[in-house]
Amino acid sequence: MSAPLTLLAALQRAEEFLQRKGVASPRLDAQVLLAHRLGLTRLQLYLRFEQPLSTAEQDDLRELLRRRAAGEPVAYLTGEKEFYSLPFRVDERVLIPRPDSETLVDAAREVFSDAAPASIADVGTGSGCLLCALAREFSRCEGVGVDSDAGALEVAAHNARALGLAERVRFVQGDLLDGVAGSFELVVANLPYVPTDEIERLSPEVRREPRGALDGGPDGLDLIRRLVPQAFARLAAHGWLLLEVGQGQALAVGELLSAAGFAGLRSWNDLSGIERVVGGRRPD
Ligand SMILES: C[S@@+](CC[C@H](N)C(=O)[O-])C[C@H]1O[C@@H](n2cnc3c(N)ncnc32)[C@H](O)[C@@H]1O
Repeated sequence: MSAPLTLLAALQRAEEFLQRKGVASPRLDAQVLLAHRLGLTRLQLYLRFEQPLSTAEQDDLRELLRRRAAGEPVAYLTGEKEFYSLPFRVDERVLIPRPDSETLVDAAREVFSDAAPASIADVGTGSGCLLCALAREFSRCEGVGVDSDAGALEVAAHNARALGLAERVRFVQGDLLDGVAGSFELVVANLPYVPTDEIERLSPEVRREPRGALDGGPDGLDLIRRLVPQAFARLAAHGWLLLEVGQGQALAVGELLSAAGFAGLRSWNDLSGIERVVGGRRPD
C-alpha cells in the first residue's frame, strides 16, 4: 500500500500543476485553495505539513485545481475576498472587490475627517464592499446601496448582515439613483468603466466576472456621465461625490464634475500611482 499523501506533498504537486497550466501565482493559489478546502489559514498549513489528506480532501483539491487551471478566479472558488480588512462573500454575480477600490474609502475618510457623513449612497454596489467598509468607518451613518442586478443585491445584503450592518444599510434594485428617495451627504460609485471594445482584451479571468459590472459603453463613461448630474441634484449642501475611474479617465471625469457644478475637485492615486478616484463637492 502506498504512503498517504501529506499536506506538504499535496501542496508541492498542486503548485507544479498550476505552474504547468500557466497560472500566474501557482504557489499562492495552491496554498489558498488547500487552506480553503481544509478550513485552515495559510499559516496553519505550515504547522501541519505532515498531516495526511483523506481521499475526499484529495478529490476536492483536484477539482478546485482543475477549475483554477481553467481560468476561474480564486475568489470565486473560495467564495470570499477581503476588502478593507473585512471579509466579503463573493460569487459569479458580483465583481471581485479590488485593492485599488480601497482608494475610494481612504478618500472618503480624508474629505470627512472633521465630521462624518450621516447618509451615504453607493451606486453600483455589487458585493456591497464599498458601502459596508464606509459604514464600518463612519459608525453612525446610514447607507443605501443600489444595483441594477438582483443577484448582486442578494450578495450585498448577505455581506451587510454578516458584518452586523443590516440595521444601518439597505439595498435597492434600480438604475443609478432613480429608485432611491432622499438626499445624501456622500455618494460613491464604482460603476462599470471599461470601454466596450476593450472587454475582449481583458484577461480571461476578468472576463469571467459579470459583463454588466465591466462594460461602460463606447468610451467607458456612459454610466458616470449619467450619474454626475443626477448625484449633484441629490447631494446635500457641501456633500461629496467620489467616483472610481479607469486609467486615463480622470481628466474627462473631472470635466464632467466641473460642468455639473461641482467644486473643490480632487483626485486620489491608487497604490500603483494611477489616478483612481475623482471627487467633487456640491458647493451649496
Ligand atoms: C464595477 S462593479 C462595482 C461593484 C462594487 N461597488 C465594487 O467596488 O467592487 C459595478 C456594479 O454596477 C452595477 N451596475 C451596472 N449598471 C448599473 C446601473 N445602471 N445602475 C445601478 N447599478 C449598475 C453592476 O451590476 C455592478 O454590480
